[in-house]
Amino acid sequence: MADEPNRPIAPRIKTTRQPALLERIGGREVIERVVDGFYDQVEADEELRPLFPEDLGPGREKQKWFLEQWLGGEPLYSQRFGHPRLRRRHFPFVITERSAGRWLRHMIQAFRDQGVDEPEIAEIVAVFGPMAKHMVNADEDVPRDPIGDIFLT
Ligand code: HEM
Repeated sequence: MADEPNRPIAPRIKTTRQPALLERIGGREVIERVVDGFYDQVEADEELRPLFPEDLGPGREKQKWFLEQWLGGEPLYSQRFGHPRLRRRHFPFVITERSAGRWLRHMIQAFRDQGVDEPEIAEIVAVFGPMAKHMVNADEDVPRDPIGDIFLT
């Protein structure tokens, strides 16, 4: 204010808010195409395919709901299944470090194939890289029983 010369300038409120990643990568339609592409790659991957259930349909849908939610969209996954608890939900699948690496490469490729820009891909990989590693459970004595579609809290 003019009559308070020593008044410190109000710090600019740092608005690092940016549109959610979902919007920046092109929304729901792009997610659908990314997940379809990803699953097509899994289907063609002789090493990874046996890890997945025979019917890839339900997993495809879940992955679309999850990704949309994770990228800042509607909580479509949690509305249906509760907390993702992904490590627990992956226990029925024996995941090695090698298969986690392949999973991640297919996912990155699927985003690239849909024309998602590299900065956005880098943001996704910064989280998905460690998360994919975190799913590795091959040498662990964890419960392998399928937990189905139960709602976890
Ligand atoms: C960033 C890491 C990952 C994320 C975000 C992720 C996400 C998901 C989600 C949301 C589901 C559905 C869970 C459910 O409700 O049943 C799922 C299922 C599954 N994931 Fe992952 N996953 C990751 C890493 C991996 C890795 C590394 C593997 C194996 C190499 C893997 C293999 C599977 C399999 C086999 C299923 C079951 C699919 C089905 O039921 O059709 N995932 N994953």
